[in-house]
Amino acid sequence: MEYLAGFGNTFVTEAVPGAVPVGRNSPQKVAHGLYAEQLSGTAFTAPRAENRRSWLYRIRPAAMHGAFSAFAGAPAFHNDFGSGPVTPDQLRWNPMPLPERPTDFVEGLFTMAGNGGPSAHAGVSIHVYAANRDMQGRFFYDADGELLLVPQQGRLRLHTELGVLEVEPQEIAVVPRGVRFRVALPDGPSRGYVCENFGALLRLPDLGPIGSNGLAAPRDFLYPVAAYEEDEGQFELVAKFQGHLWRADIGHSPLDVVGWHGNYAPCKYDLRRFNTIGSISFDHPDPSIFLVLTSPSDTPGVGNMDLAIFPPRILAMQDTFRPPWFHRNVASEFMGLVHGAYDAKAEGFAPGGASLHNCMTGHGPDAATFEKASNADLSKPDVITDTMAFMFETRSVIRPTAQALDAAHRQRDYQACWAGLRKHFAPPR
Ligand SMILES: [Fe+2]
Repeated sequence: MEYLAGFGNTFVTEAVPGAVPVGRNSPQKVAHGLYAEQLSGTAFTAPRAENRRSWLYRIRPAAMHGAFSAFAGAPAFHNDFGSGPVTPDQLRWNPMPLPERPTDFVEGLFTMAGNGGPSAHAGVSIHVYAANRDMQGRFFYDADGELLLVPQQGRLRLHTELGVLEVEPQEIAVVPRGVRFRVALPDGPSRGYVCENFGALLRLPDLGPIGSNGLAAPRDFLYPVAAYEEDEGQFELVAKFQGHLWRADIGHSPLDVVGWHGNYAPCKYDLRRFNTIGSISFDHPDPSIFLVLTSPSDTPGVGNMDLAIFPPRILAMQDTFRPPWFHRNVASEFMGLVHGAYDAKAEGFAPGGASLHNCMTGHGPDAATFEKASNADLSKPDVITDTMAFMFETRSVIRPTAQALDAAHRQRDYQACWAGLRKHFAPPR
């Protein structure tokens, strides 16, 4: 598949030569009988470095569809995080079971947790999906936030207005707010995680003293080339708007953009290309060194949401407990595992599973990991392979949904993983 490279770059791409006008965005008549349409992802007056918009040259404008009515096909996909008490418990889930009935990507979304809301343009909603068939005659867009997709099992083929992205486990994709798309599942039964970001658009973090290289490299973010569908039929457009789902009849595929230019477009990134930075003397640095993308808040240095990953790496620190120590944070952490095993837990955290450690809730290595790491031979480096864990970290407390707390696949005995931590205290008498 052909891609355009470079995070946030401005691209020009045409599926038919001449579709994108030269020298102006909206000529009186667009070539080939196309319509011109601007898609803005930031305020018109956002500073130039943050301004995101694309011009789409399409067969029919996005305005053409029937009236919206409530969509009941995905009852587990919402933004209802409750308003009552929220448990400070450590929480963990087994992988969500794959569906037995035919289920597409939208139908298979299950909201786990979240904070803030789409009306405030702040916070996140965290979902898992488990699906087994392509979206057929159905297209979706999310007006509430950009979608950060983390497939764990099976590829996602994202047919979007701006072109096609194929994303496999250990890759991520970002579909901007408002972009229409459908999801095909070339590998059949598929599962993964979705972070719906209501806040500022995800961007690469500053690197500070790390310098000009390291972490995720801009050139590894891949954008689709223009590709269009000229299909007519009885289709359905599903919209997520203000936390609820809507549907409208549409007589044509809305993926009919023949050419586009701009810097507001979906992209994908291979997490295995992340250049991991770490300590080569002693101690365990904060996980901010594993930051892939960040959605900044209004407070400098404080993210609305951060995506961090824990990829294969070498631990060589001396006189150091090498896994993450016990800790409590002002931030809240939702973790998932895409591949392999996570080095801070001996068991119970399976690929496709999830954990939630909220603001100031104590957590860290389980008893087995503590014993092993406390007695490890530090004369040799630990080469950690076959792993890819990630974390959605947020400024605000992540409220688990009632359906996530009630789910059969929640581990109700999660706290027991710390119960075996023995008392070692032995002061001199
Ligand atoms: Fe943590």
